[in-house]
Amino acid sequence: MEHNLQEIDSIIDHWGPKPASLLQIMLDINHKYHYLPKESVERVSERLGMPESHVYSVATFFKVFSLTPRGRSIIHVCTGTACHVKGTPKILDRLKQTLNLSPGETTEDLALTLETVNCVGACASAPVVVVDGKTHAEMSPGKVSTLVNELKNEKKD
Ligand code: FES
Repeated sequence: MEHNLQEIDSIIDHWGPKPASLLQIMLDINHKYHYLPKESVERVSERLGMPESHVYSVATFFKVFSLTPRGRSIIHVCTGTACHVKGTPKILDRLKQTLNLSPGETTEDLALTLETVNCVGACASAPVVVVDGKTHAEMSPGKVSTLVNELKNEKKD
């Protein structure tokens, strides 16, 4: 995918093309594209005068960064024990079918990423699905289908 180098340059210019700005620049790029495109790593390395390997090492050290495309919304399915017992496998199956994704994958239109997560501390509401930080309690395959439809419609706007 092509990314606008001008947009990347304006982020670099905003923070200043200096090594001390590296994290802020990477955070802004990651926020804008939901991951760090390869050409942005090349550009940052070139303009900040540091090896690409250094930028990649920072990108892999901090969990907030992704080097692969991610959706504008992330669906986290809890696979902790309480959720598992109360039906996570069926919810996950429904999501895999509906979205045609396996955990860790993103839809082609970059709208949604499916991920699994360990206990999110809401076991009393099991099984739970967390979308962009919002917890959806007592989920079922039917409820999760409705949720996906809502998310798809939101992304069309
Ligand atoms: S196991 Fe899912 S919230 Fe605790």
